[in-house]
Amino acid sequence: MSADQHEAPWWKKTTVYQIYPRSFLDTNGDGVGDLKGVLAKLDYLAELGVETLWLTPFFDSPQRDFGYDIRSYGQVAADHGTWADFDQLLSAVHERGMRLVLDMVLNHTSDEHPWFREALRRKDSKERGYYLFRRGRGEGGSAPPTNWRSMIGPRGWHYHAASDEWYFASFLPFQPDLNHRNPDVQKAVLAIVEGFLRKGVDGLRLDIFNAMFKDAGYKDNPPSLRPLPSEDNADGFFQRNLYTINHPDSVAFARTLRAHVDAVPGDPRFLVGEVFGPPSLLRSYCGETGDGLNLVFLFKTLRTEFSAQAFHSLLDEYEREFAAPLLPTWVLGNHDRARYIERVGNDPRRAKVLATLQLTARGVPFLYQGEEIGMTNLDLPIATALDPLAHFYRFVPPWLQRLLRRKGVMINRDECRTPMQWSAADNAGFSPPGTRPWLPVHPSYPWTNVAVQLTDPNSLLSHYRRLLKLRRKLPALHSGSLTLWHPTNLPEPVLGYQRRSGSELVDVLLNFSPRLVEVSLPEARQLLFSTHQESLLLDGNRLRLRPLECVILAPRGQGVGP
Ligand code: NOJ
Ligand code: CA
Repeated sequence: MSADQHEAPWWKKTTVYQIYPRSFLDTNGDGVGDLKGVLAKLDYLAELGVETLWLTPFFDSPQRDFGYDIRSYGQVAADHGTWADFDQLLSAVHERGMRLVLDMVLNHTSDEHPWFREALRRKDSKERGYYLFRRGRGEGGSAPPTNWRSMIGPRGWHYHAASDEWYFASFLPFQPDLNHRNPDVQKAVLAIVEGFLRKGVDGLRLDIFNAMFKDAGYKDNPPSLRPLPSEDNADGFFQRNLYTINHPDSVAFARTLRAHVDAVPGDPRFLVGEVFGPPSLLRSYCGETGDGLNLVFLFKTLRTEFSAQAFHSLLDEYEREFAAPLLPTWVLGNHDRARYIERVGNDPRRAKVLATLQLTARGVPFLYQGEEIGMTNLDLPIATALDPLAHFYRFVPPWLQRLLRRKGVMINRDECRTPMQWSAADNAGFSPPGTRPWLPVHPSYPWTNVAVQLTDPNSLLSHYRRLLKLRRKLPALHSGSLTLWHPTNLPEPVLGYQRRSGSELVDVLLNFSPRLVEVSLPEARQLLFSTHQESLLLDGNRLRLRPLECVILAPRGQGVGP
């Protein structure tokens, strides 16, 4: 990033808060969160200091994958409300100077979508060509057309007996993939996107964007030795996903979509893609000149060990791989991932270190609801899981489920989707008393909740609020360049970096250890922020950092922004 980015578009400076509406706030007592619930908490979110809200899908759906199986983009799911609720929410968000981002599931539809129903009903329908139907191989077409697996392990082809053909689904069997090589599908998808942008939506999150295009020649994927896919390598289940994931046409589609979005009149919007692969590949989705997706989720944080060295290397990599005009994203969790706090012993003091990093490093932070109060994963048995994914892994014993979760692999996503903990009231204030929320409330709610933490200046929530306020105020933090401190100038458990915008500069120092450490500063500094409320142990050029203390410093005499 150039030294001075005051004039950067809003999305480069923003902070995003992900709302999983189903688990946010239930206003009508049916146990399921709704759009009115989001509206009711807008002041809370504005005061928290986040600027952009991302809503996961709330469209009409059989809810077999809780909204990621869309039956119609044209309707709001009855559980969640109405278009009038949505319109009211969108204006209320904008009135507060905030932005709203929607989730677009363009790779697939629900198998109850009218297109798919028609495709099943009539082999000669035009809708048949909207999906990936194919005759099987072998004797009587009884074997799937290719060896392609789904992203979750089992094969991706599903047999439709009535028409004696197979259809492909990258994710779950009831989420048939659209055929994006069909110009009618492209037209329909672009029209959906445009419709939302014209409504005033500020950006889109693109679900499994890396699966959009598959090989047109239906070639078999080569074998691989990798058992499981990971954040930086989408190959897995002993298959190299050469012809199904990260196809060059999916990468090219990023630029087509961006051009289409940019052509819709209004403020700039942003596209953020859910893609997995090595950094160079992720970068290609953004386009080397930044003309593709504005942002891609970077999930490597979730696998990064809690240490100054590990985060130093990660920052170094992001700075190299996502140099200007590109911008990294900072993700610590979402509705699919184990909440990171478990990896640091469910310790809010360590969560403060991570939050400091997330909100002060260069890039766009994505917060997942509940992170700001330190909500933890809830142990839930696979046998009774509502998450359809969990059923594929029924054989996994609970001890292994927990072990995998600590390593960031989530088998039962219910565990990170429990209702938001608003207060110590019944149902944590999520659903009215006497209601049964769709997922159990975490038993930690009497002490881990918004109401309690709002009254405690040392709480994790207060930490987020103070930090978000400072980030908004200081161009160095929200749009400055980043230079890492050389580790030899710091004690081993401390990570340090400098952010600079024009003549404004700040230093961020994070002590990852439970020890008191001493740092020598090149010049005298003043304190702008500390995780610890007590006075800073600063004596001339010597600074003592308390256990897990993080500070933000500025040169003496430098103003602290407008
Ligand atoms: C990724 C979404 O985040 C996840 O929740 C969903 O199940 C799959 N994509 C399929 O749409
Ligand atoms: Ca409700």
